[in-house]
Amino acid sequence: MDKEIIIVLDFGGQYNQLIARRVRECNVYCEVHPYSLSPDKIKAMNPKGIIFTGGPNSVYGEDSPLCDKAVFELGVPVLGICYGSQLMAHVFGGRVATAPVSEYGKTEVEVDTAKAIFKGVSSKTVCWMSHTDYIESVPEGFVVTAHTPVCPVAGMENAEKGLYAVQFHPEVMHTQEGITMLRNFVMNICECRGDWKMDSFVESAIRDLRERIGGGKVLCALSGGVDSSVAAVLLSKAVGKQLTCVFVDHGLLRKNEGDEVEAVFGPEGPYDLNFVRVNAQERFYGKLAGVTEPEAKRKIIGEEFIRVFEEESKKIGAVDFLVQGTIYPDVIESGLGKSAVIKSHHNVGGLPDYVDFKEIVEPLRLLFKDEVRKAGLELGIPDYLVFRQPFPGPGLGIRIIGEVTPDKVRIVQEADYIYREEIAKAGIDKELGQYFAAITNMRSVGCMGDERTYDYAVALRAVTTSDFMTAEAAQLPWDVLGKVTNRIVNEVKGVNRVLYDCTSKPPGTIEFE
Ligand code: XMP
Repeated sequence: MDKEIIIVLDFGGQYNQLIARRVRECNVYCEVHPYSLSPDKIKAMNPKGIIFTGGPNSVYGEDSPLCDKAVFELGVPVLGICYGSQLMAHVFGGRVATAPVSEYGKTEVEVDTAKAIFKGVSSKTVCWMSHTDYIESVPEGFVVTAHTPVCPVAGMENAEKGLYAVQFHPEVMHTQEGITMLRNFVMNICECRGDWKMDSFVESAIRDLRERIGGGKVLCALSGGVDSSVAAVLLSKAVGKQLTCVFVDHGLLRKNEGDEVEAVFGPEGPYDLNFVRVNAQERFYGKLAGVTEPEAKRKIIGEEFIRVFEEESKKIGAVDFLVQGTIYPDVIESGLGKSAVIKSHHNVGGLPDYVDFKEIVEPLRLLFKDEVRKAGLELGIPDYLVFRQPFPGPGLGIRIIGEVTPDKVRIVQEADYIYREEIAKAGIDKELGQYFAAITNMRSVGCMGDERTYDYAVALRAVTTSDFMTAEAAQLPWDVLGKVTNRIVNEVKGVNRVLYDCTSKPPGTIEFE
């Protein structure tokens, strides 16, 4: 049976991976490719459907990404989203112009529920808009399928040619019935069967890894995070002691984390692998001294990590394979490079230059995070590791605003530990996507036991999110916040104030730097 595939063509928007994720939620395999992928190559992949993403450009811009009209003539349904919808209109001779009123945020859209794409959707539905241009008039052969008071063409289609377009973003959660719309496109319009499942992934991955690695020596950088842990266990199941895992403790981990990682993957743990822990705290603090700019901090941590890893691997000697816990979002972000860079993620493209290895193994490179978690469960990795909160590669370095010092690391570790402890006690940890403490660069005056204090403010962050691309600030119970605040100011030396971050993403990000 042929594997069904939907192709997403990336025009540089921020939510492009989300589109692929939503398609995979329909159990249909989906890949993201650059917008410039030729119609011939697309045809060779035999897709069931094509989705054009949004993007920051205007179709009239000098360097704007355009598309070959032949893509629309492959006999495959196409859905254009935001910029993708404007491009479709432009290519077919419709009129795209700067909207007199730009729409940004949740917007009520009136849709024609008789159309296949809006089947089962309410006639007035809240959608996420983010555009300055709009389609002023549709091309010949197209009809308007959705509108708002200020956007005459929030949706259009030429059903005969299999062409559909929406101005808003059905892939983000803020579009309340967006998943229904995407499902309509994938299952009804593209007529996919939806038989792509994760069950057999682990089995076939282990088989493929054994075949590829044979008797070779394998090296893995283990962070203790979900991705590298799943990759390591997969490799250890496939090739056992041929694998060595190197765990670099950069001194920017959460309280006790280094020991926890060692307890699972070290000699006392359940896995049959070689484990090396490098305590490189002082080295990282030295390099970070005096550095305040967020991107500079990220780069230093990323580079230093690689240097330490290289030094350790030289001690191990020549290896045949280097394992990377790369997952699909990393592949998309580093490979296509069209989206505006908001933050550089140091685990992306950060390959050591001098490690003596022959090949890279990336067993998770086609999986999204939730799929990696499913694989982890299948491998028997304990729940508490599989459902760990995401923790950024640069660690507490980007939760310490301004210069990183050992004392600020201590403060943020202690405060974060208390926060996590109280959240767990209150039994609300499962409801939150991510929560942590950060230390602001602000010191303010307080008074403790009749003494004046001039100490740091700690910021607490908690978000609900399903995809980490968008997030809402969580409405934590006031008594929990009060308890955490009391404990932090009483128990953590150097803190006299606790603030709660109410910002959603966008416009904020989840981490502070
Ligand atoms: P932002 O702050 O961009 O974070 O809203 C989105 C998610 O990504 C995590 N994050 C990182 N993960 N390396 C990582 O592996 C990084 O450099 C990095 N920076 C942010 C963040 O914790 C959140 O889950």
